[in-house]
Amino acid sequence: MNKKNTNNNFKTDFPFFKNNPDLVYLDTAASSLKPQVVIDAIKEYYEQYCINPHSQDYQLAIKGNDIFEDTRKIISKFINSNENEIVFCPSATFAFNQIAYGLEKYLQENDEILLTNLEHSSLLLPFYRLIKTKKIKIKFFETNNQGVITIENLKKVLTPKTRIVAFANINNSLAIENNTEKLTNFIKDYGQKYLKNNDWVFKNILVIIDGTQSIAHTKTDVKKWNIDFFAFSGHKVFGPTGIGVFWGKNEWLNILEPLILGGGMNDCIETNGRFSLLASPTRFEGGTQNIAGVFGLGAAIKYLLSIGMENIKNHQISLKKYALQQLTKHLSNNIEIYSDNINSSNIIFNIKNVFAQDVANFLGTQNICVRSGTYCAKLLSNTLNTSATIRVSLYIYNCKKDIDLLVTALKKGINEGGDFLNEFF
Ligand SMILES: Cc1ncc(COP(=O)(O)O)c(C=O)c1O
Repeated sequence: MNKKNTNNNFKTDFPFFKNNPDLVYLDTAASSLKPQVVIDAIKEYYEQYCINPHSQDYQLAIKGNDIFEDTRKIISKFINSNENEIVFCPSATFAFNQIAYGLEKYLQENDEILLTNLEHSSLLLPFYRLIKTKKIKIKFFETNNQGVITIENLKKVLTPKTRIVAFANINNSLAIENNTEKLTNFIKDYGQKYLKNNDWVFKNILVIIDGTQSIAHTKTDVKKWNIDFFAFSGHKVFGPTGIGVFWGKNEWLNILEPLILGGGMNDCIETNGRFSLLASPTRFEGGTQNIAGVFGLGAAIKYLLSIGMENIKNHQISLKKYALQQLTKHLSNNIEIYSDNINSSNIIFNIKNVFAQDVANFLGTQNICVRSGTYCAKLLSNTLNTSATIRVSLYIYNCKKDIDLLVTALKKGINEGGDFLNEFF
């Protein structure tokens, strides 16, 4: 438990609430709020360091670089990887573009890439782009009705042509954790049996995990999960925007083509057009990095560790239980809930006969921040059988009062406003 914060009132760690005392923030899945310690770490960089880690000729730059590299250590420990496998990048979106770009040259005609309907555009589109240049196939596999991937789902789609399987450990809608270790082992066993050794450079099916939502909600263990690539964005886990992490097994990182070429990542440049690259992770960190972002991300992970993942999970489960109770008690005739599993930190719902965005906009007028639509996962409607929903996402700084205010606002929309459309327009 955070030493400063023994009464579980985490709101006091977040200046957002001091500056917006009337707002109920239920949109963490879009971006988490930033604790003071993260803001202080960013300020510390600009006020005390302001250095470029590429300069290593004076003490301050060396010290600043030590903090930069210490953050790499903190993150590698946090996700249980080797230190030189942690690449800093702008975001998960950037990371998936890098991975798909790097894998392109190894893909051959008729190779298959497997994805689910619940994935974020940032995971789907970099692979979609490859269809333009390579005669490969993108195939989708189903999840169960809770949005979870099962071995049965995989059995239906894996073939000897499968080269890549990519999915989120926790997706950004129904948000129940997949058993990534079990699924990956099944995929790898399948690959071992059906891929001939000389089939392609990677010898087995690659598993790419989108950890953007899961990083703040569950323990990540890339070694235990036995996966090949993993990525997340710092802003989903108390950190700043513009900084993310791309992880890959060393053997892959050293043969992937970097998306970005520039200073700091090359070993030698000749006048004949030849150049060579440094080893990972530097090879992927061309140009001046988001150093303040790295300082902030380090502080964010330390802050999360000071609370403890178990405490985060327990808090979320008790809040979700309470939210489900209250929503069904007060709105049972008017609400349709798509994610009633208490292990999911999200509540995906619709108010019957009202368009999701109208409800979300109305809640906005009542100082309640939620998100509506498909959450950049445009194929989600294929699973939910509805074009749009409302998402309430819960995190450590939310409390029962936030849920009470949400329920009161929804009741107001339904009872007093006649309907949300009349109220809002
Ligand atoms: C599951 C998932 N993957 C990837 C992303 C992309 O993150 P970013 O926009 O920070 O690159 C998001 C963002 O919402 C997400 O929820």
